[in-house]
Amino acid sequence: PRHYALIPAAGVGARMAADGPKQYLTVGGKPMLRHALEAFLASDRIAHTYIVVSPADGQIDAVVPPGLDGVTVLRCGGATRMESVQNALHALRAQVRDGDSILVHDAARPGLTPELIARLIDGVAGDPAGGLLALPVVDTVKRAAGGQVATVPRDGLWLAQTPQMFSYALLRRALDAATDASAVTDDASAVEALGLSPRLVPGDPRNLKVTLPADVRIAEMYLAQPTT
Ligand code: C5P
Repeated sequence: PRHYALIPAAGVGARMAADGPKQYLTVGGKPMLRHALEAFLASDRIAHTYIVVSPADGQIDAVVPPGLDGVTVLRCGGATRMESVQNALHALRAQVRDGDSILVHDAARPGLTPELIARLIDGVAGDPAGGLLALPVVDTVKRAAGGQVATVPRDGLWLAQTPQMFSYALLRRALDAATDASAVTDDASAVEALGLSPRLVPGDPRNLKVTLPADVRIAEMYLAQPTT
């Protein structure tokens, strides 16, 4: 079975308060999307990379020049991340086999490396439930609900990263079964809802998601470090 990368990049980046979609935000001299793409292009484990953008996107050609080897842009992004992934999977039905793996990676994580891609693939090791990069929670976690504050034991808690890797057939089935798109904040949650347990493969803090403006500085600091 082959491994394909899928980068949903059809968001509008409302939380960044920047003047454009955050996948195009410049981090360390390049749009974030370009960093993520280059990690997949540099990996010898990935057969091909697909990027899904909004049909109205006018910036993608400057970041991913038409004809660039190893990557195809799909202009079928939807209203939610989940819908963008679903539309892309549907568009790929003739190219990808049910048993092939799809590594879904957010464009907002510029710190991905070929080493992390290999770690995920080797860590999932063909598990039929798939898996994802994740980090153990190190902070003390509080839940505030109904005026009551309580400490959630952090034992066994992980923060989900991407890529998240599933067979094509499983990912399609899981997303098609999900009824509330806004509740599907990552692909693994849709797979979990089927009663399956995706594997948690230790990720890396450098693979952070850029959400708030201050995250850009942190990402740039990591990108400037030699990767080991
Ligand atoms: O906004 P958020 O950080 O959740 O976005 C995660 C990823 O999903 C980003 O790469 C974003 O471009 C993508 N996305 C998408 N289609 C949407 C919304 C978000 O592909 N409608």
